[in-house]
Amino acid sequence: MSEQYKITLLPGDGIGPEIMAVAVKVLEVIGAKFDLSFGFTSAPIGGAAIDATGTPLPEETLNICQHSDAVLLAAIGGYKWDGLPRAQRPETGLLSLRAGLDLFANLRPATIFPQLIDSSSLKPEVVRGVDIMVVRELTGGIYFGQPKGIFETETGEKRGVNTMAYRESEIDRIAQVAFDIARKRGKKLCSVDKANVLDVSQLWRDRVSRMAAHYPDVELSHLYVDNAAMQLVRAPKQFDTIVTGNLFGDILSDEAAMLTGSIGMLPSASLGSHGPGVFEPVHGSAPDIAGQDQANPLAQVLSAAMMLKYGLNQMAAAQAIEKSVLEVLDRGYRTGDIMSPGMTRVGCTEMGEALVKVLKS
Ligand code: IPM
Ligand code: MG
Repeated sequence: MSEQYKITLLPGDGIGPEIMAVAVKVLEVIGAKFDLSFGFTSAPIGGAAIDATGTPLPEETLNICQHSDAVLLAAIGGYKWDGLPRAQRPETGLLSLRAGLDLFANLRPATIFPQLIDSSSLKPEVVRGVDIMVVRELTGGIYFGQPKGIFETETGEKRGVNTMAYRESEIDRIAQVAFDIARKRGKKLCSVDKANVLDVSQLWRDRVSRMAAHYPDVELSHLYVDNAAMQLVRAPKQFDTIVTGNLFGDILSDEAAMLTGSIGMLPSASLGSHGPGVFEPVHGSAPDIAGQDQANPLAQVLSAAMMLKYGLNQMAAAQAIEKSVLEVLDRGYRTGDIMSPGMTRVGCTEMGEALVKVLKS
């Protein structure tokens, strides 16, 4: 009997549907190879959901996600919906999905692909060998803290408010995930905060330090976020695993991604303590190239690999996908975003076909 998995597909907006189609093809080939059977259900999220139902995360979509083994998400958003009130914006759909599935741990690897080293804006010797895992807290901090809103003061002047807050338990659970990951990687964990100024960061630092007692084999360090941002471009190889709060993680994970020169290559995983995880590329919906068959599907395909690894515990299948991505790069296939002289430029569909060919060979 083959292993059966219920997978929810959330193609979303822009290039989302194109790159999702490639990932599904790859999963089908992988399923046949490793005796896994995937039942796919698609549901709307983001702008597509706003157009269809008036809300960026319909209850029905969340419900389908909750009842699946894993969720594969592509990308959301576009100019069309930018002017809507916050509650009806595509981004709000994504945040509600994270909150609704309690996905407090966001794993964002920034790995240099040797074939693409020249795409980095940094010198090859600075980035060669970079392999960082950013563990970002995803359901707390200033993204969700109360009070929040734009309030009118007594003088009639408006005041915008957000609150950065963390409970001990929220810090402990993300710290634990990060230590576990660091233990399986280079055994080095750097916690990033702003404890020299923020009380919430002082508590963060205290709790992370406390957790370290359970991980004597992992070397823990702390950096202030401004210094961390600088160190990431100065000497990125000093980092192995980074753990940080929601806002700092949002910023630093983009910075770390760009070290690799190709945000179009990077996947992510969002996990809770139980229930399905959400697996999605780090890049956005790229509305400027949507529908033109130009998008790079590799981050989506690598997100499917992360789904197999972290969501379904199918390590061999995950590795086969990762290997096939390296192989198509070795064979010289490049979408526009990672194109360099002498390589073969392909579109989204062709890149998918190249992957399928490698996987079947
Ligand atoms: C990300 C994105 C989101 C975030 C936006 C789209 C809400 O930037 O996943 O990093 O800020 O978390
Ligand atoms: Mg971001």
